[in-house]
Amino acid sequence: MNNPLKKIIFPTAGLGTRFLPATKASPKEMLTIVDKPLIQYGVEEALASGMNEIIMVTGRGKRAIEDHFDISAELEANLKAAGKNEIYREVSHISRMVEVVYVRQKQALGLGHAVACATHWVGHEAFGVALADELIIAETPVMQQLRQVYEQTGSSVIGLMQVPAHLVSRYGIVKASQEKDGLLRLQDMVEKPQIEEAPSDLAIIGRYIFTPRLLELLADTKPGKQGEIQLTDAIARLAKEEPVYGVIIEGKRFDAGNPLGFLMANVELGRTHHKYGEAFTDFLHQLG
Ligand code: UTP
Repeated sequence: MNNPLKKIIFPTAGLGTRFLPATKASPKEMLTIVDKPLIQYGVEEALASGMNEIIMVTGRGKRAIEDHFDISAELEANLKAAGKNEIYREVSHISRMVEVVYVRQKQALGLGHAVACATHWVGHEAFGVALADELIIAETPVMQQLRQVYEQTGSSVIGLMQVPAHLVSRYGIVKASQEKDGLLRLQDMVEKPQIEEAPSDLAIIGRYIFTPRLLELLADTKPGKQGEIQLTDAIARLAKEEPVYGVIIEGKRFDAGNPLGFLMANVELGRTHHKYGEAFTDFLHQLG
């Protein structure tokens, strides 16, 4: 396969209404899990999966994301002068770890529209898409798990997770058939179905690899549920034209875009953190 799969889109232009008022003036992707913002976890996962051409789709009020990956000369000079070498290394590493292209989504017209905003920068190559508020802790980075299937098949691949039946109405749910080697081939998908309409209990979890055909389909996808251009509608059309595979991912996933999932992610990563883990675990035990 001669597509090296280097590009990945991070749509970060949503309104974050589930996390108001915290997200009124700050992007939800900048919410911190222990000591790093969500978007940094996402970018580190992409880099660990060999995707180092990052396209960030941002919107109004998202400048903090750009600043986070930018060089802060004054801060770096201050840290160095104060001999705070460990944090200096950390801060300067963040700004130099990756080159990012920023594209503006002028109106929050939906996830599908946000991905389409990056079309010009993707060109005619396969590309990844990752939603940073879906935090996934995994031994093998999740984008790498998807990449393995892409390299085997040359087709689009979508990360999936089994969810309890009463929660299917919160997710994009797929209809899929079993293929050889444990691969699932997607036939259809529905955005946030009622329990009785759900074709399965397999939910889309915010990690994707697409062939460039998806962008052509997105270009003429009409607004669907909630008046938004839905990525799932375009994926459903893609699956009717060419194979789209699903992988049930290995890892722990947290929906950190809502307060409960965010708290859970902080507890999980706090407990195991190399610096704070021990003291935090003691604290949790004291709580009983
Ligand atoms: P969500 O469904 O989580 O929407 O979007 P949201 O607006 O961010 O959050 P809530 O539901 O109002 O609380 C999934 C992903 O798609 C991006 C979001 O930033 C998030 O990463 N998105 C969504 C866009 O970039 N643009 C949009 O118009 C909508």
